[in-house]
Amino acid sequence: MIHSKELVEPIVIKLGGSVVTVKEKPYTVNHDAIKRLSKIIFKNYRAGKRLVLVHGGGSFGHTAVSEISQRKGILDVIDVAFVQYKMLELATIITKAFIDEGIPVTLYPGHVLCRKSADCNFELLYEDLENGLVPMTYGDIVYGDRGYAIISGDDLAFWISSALGARKIYFVTSEPGVLDKEGQIIRRVTNIDQVSDLGTKGYDVTGGMKKKVHAALEYSSNHDVEIRILDIDGLEKVLGGGEAGSIIVDSQKRLVNRGRRK
Ligand SMILES: Nc1ncnc2c1ncn2[C@@H]1O[C@H](COP(=O)(O)OP(=O)(O)OP(=O)(O)O)[C@@H](O)[C@H]1O
Ligand SMILES: [Mg+2]
Repeated sequence: MIHSKELVEPIVIKLGGSVVTVKEKPYTVNHDAIKRLSKIIFKNYRAGKRLVLVHGGGSFGHTAVSEISQRKGILDVIDVAFVQYKMLELATIITKAFIDEGIPVTLYPGHVLCRKSADCNFELLYEDLENGLVPMTYGDIVYGDRGYAIISGDDLAFWISSALGARKIYFVTSEPGVLDKEGQIIRRVTNIDQVSDLGTKGYDVTGGMKKKVHAALEYSSNHDVEIRILDIDGLEKVLGGGEAGSIIVDSQKRLVNRGRRK
C-alpha cells in the first residue's frame, strides 16, 4: 500500500466494457449506460464517497486487438499506438460525459500508469483522491522490450485496490451478477467451479467473466475486501447501502489481521 494512514478509503469501480460499449458492435459507445453511470457516480461523489474508476476495453480495445492479431498475427509498434489511440478515444468520451454531470474526473491512460503488466505506479491517483478528484484509468496496451502486453482493466482494478487500500471493489457488467446455467444470479461465489462460462458477446482478449471471477477469488483470499459483480442497477443499490449482484469471496479466505488492510 502506498500510504499507511487511513485518510481516504476509496471504492474502486470497474466500469466493464460490456456496459460502457456495445460489445458486439465494433467501436460503439453505449451512451445511455454512460449517462446512467454518470448520475449514480455523481450522486455518490457529492455524498462524500472517494471513488476510483477503471473502465474496460469493450468493443474498442478488444476489437482492435482481435482484428489486428487475426490479420497480422502479431501487434507491432504502429498497432500498439493504434490500440492506445482507440482506448483513449473511448476514455475521452466517458470523461466528457462524467465531467458534464459534475464529476471531477482526472484521466490517466493505463499505459502511463503501467509500463508493463503489473509494473505500475498509482501514487498520483492517491494524491488526486486526497484533493477531491475522481481519478480514472482504463485497460490498455503497452509496448516494451518483449513486445506488447495487454493491461487488463480487471487487473488494474485489483492492483489499484491493493495499492490504495480499497475495501470495496465493484465490477459493473452487462449482467446483474455471475449467472448460473438457468440465468439466476449466484449470490455468493466461493469457488470457481460454481461458474460456467456462458460465452462472451463480441471479442474478448482478457478472459471474460470466468477469468474475472477467478481473479476476484484470488484477490479476496488475502485482502480484507468486499468484491461484487453487478449491473448498473446493482451499483446504484450497493452504493446506497443495499444488496445486489454476486459477492465473490474465496472459501479458503485467510485473514491474519482483520484490523489491517494488506
Ligand atoms: N456465468 C456468467 N455470468 C454472467 N456473465 C457471463 C457468464 N459467462 C459469460 N458471461 C459474459 O461475460 C460478460 C462479462 O465479461 P466481459 O469481459 O465480456 O465484460 P467486461 O469485463 O464488462 O468487459 P471488458 O473486458 O471490455 O471490460 C457478460 O456480458 C456475459 O455476456
Ligand atoms: Mg472483461
